[in-house]
Amino acid sequence: MKNMKRTEIIHILDQAEIGKEVNIKGWVKTFRNDQFLTINDGSTLRNIQVVLNPEQTPEDLRKRLYTGTSVSVIGVVQESLGKGQNVEVIGQSLTILGDCDPNEFPIQMKKHSLEFLREKAHLRFRTSTFSAVFRVRHHLAFAVNKFFNDRGFYYLHTPIITGSDAEGAGEMFKVTTLDLNQIPKDENGHVDHSQDFFGKSANLTVSGQLEAELAALALGKVYTFGPTFRAENSNTSRHLAEFWMIEPEVAFNDIYDNMDLAEAFLKFCLNHVLENALEDLTFLQEREQQEDKAKPQEERQTIPLVERLKFVVDSPFERITYTEAIDILMNSNHYKKKKFKYDVSWGIDLQSEHERYLVEKHFQKPVIITGYPAAIKAFYMRLNEDGKTVAAMDMLVPGIGEIIGGSQREERYDVLLEKCKQFNIPEEHIWWYLETRKFGTCTHAGFGLGFERMVMYATGMSNIRDVIPFPRTPLNAEF
Ligand code: 4AD
Ligand code: MG
Repeated sequence: MKNMKRTEIIHILDQAEIGKEVNIKGWVKTFRNDQFLTINDGSTLRNIQVVLNPEQTPEDLRKRLYTGTSVSVIGVVQESLGKGQNVEVIGQSLTILGDCDPNEFPIQMKKHSLEFLREKAHLRFRTSTFSAVFRVRHHLAFAVNKFFNDRGFYYLHTPIITGSDAEGAGEMFKVTTLDLNQIPKDENGHVDHSQDFFGKSANLTVSGQLEAELAALALGKVYTFGPTFRAENSNTSRHLAEFWMIEPEVAFNDIYDNMDLAEAFLKFCLNHVLENALEDLTFLQEREQQEDKAKPQEERQTIPLVERLKFVVDSPFERITYTEAIDILMNSNHYKKKKFKYDVSWGIDLQSEHERYLVEKHFQKPVIITGYPAAIKAFYMRLNEDGKTVAAMDMLVPGIGEIIGGSQREERYDVLLEKCKQFNIPEEHIWWYLETRKFGTCTHAGFGLGFERMVMYATGMSNIRDVIPFPRTPLNAEF
């Protein structure tokens, strides 16, 4: 066979150079009538149709063309008479690169449940749904970097192994090289981490924020975009033990600047996928509509995906205080009819049923809530004048709930030190963070966006396990 350069399917379909000889390499989707072969190579959602001449293609080769087989085809591009495509390729020579036994290959050209495909995560990329999701995920990641780069932010790589618990939630995975079968103990019977790799206890990071703050107080505007780890034992459709987070941090920004940045950021990313991945989004929209048919009316999406995303990009988000949110909830019929599982009163941590009521029923659009009670938020959030709320902000979106959490930071040394005491954070763990408040402190603010939650929002996928290639959740770390 001639050694020819490969042409990607997206170029053949979009550039339509009639009469050109091309070499396609990809995986068979379907093979019909001993003649019509559709191939996908991941460069686009669309397949190319190859018309094989049965007389020129040996029967022993044709017999090996099953869904999943990898092939190389040399042929000539021509206008297509079939509907749904502009061009097709008249096959001249076919090579089987890798066989795929239809009796064993689990991904067939029929509908598989997402649960089934999660067990086949090594092969689920081969489905149109997952290839679309991961192309959209790529475009979103690119948009994240573009947004910040275009605005003069510096991408900062914060450590993945750390000694600090930024969120103070105590949900950390330990990192150790101690022999777990013979753990050395100190005189108090505690694990002796002085014999450990770092000479102290260490964890996987839950957030790069504290380190990002240090850098922002010199570089001005920074952002992180990396993996974060939380050992919270919550098996929900919105939590992962390993997820990716984006954390911008800006010197001289206050909570209002922070809200503006968060809103502009989410809008930019969604607009970027509308502009660069509309084909995949349209496919995912159809998928969602198909899935919805099996759901009860009240769980179905009322607005199609693409329209939903356009609406988010085009309309201002709602902004309310925590106190206003509590008022709305307590005055709702839902509350009066005792339909909330968890009670509502000033001071509670909003449960996801409350958040969803606010965004899905009451406002029907993204909402940013500020001014949470100090007691339910992290130690680093700036205390408001009232002495009981902090300059925190959560962004909630329909279908997902919380997508962003952030705040203006406590920049006053004395107030922060007092907060550390209240939250039982030993000064010797966080001395470096405190020092920035002694040496040229200033107003600053930032937030964290859970990348997978944004991918869910953009793709309409309803389980977070379906928007990350290999999800890590309680009792699950296969692949
Ligand atoms: O609200 P969180 O905990 O905020 C922080 O970590 C701050 N340090 C951020 C900052 O101010 N720089 O987490 C931020 C976001 C959440 O809003 C959510 O979208 C996502 O991270 N997130 C998770 N995503 C998937 N799985 C989990 N277990 C998540 N926990 C949080
Ligand atoms: Mg949060």
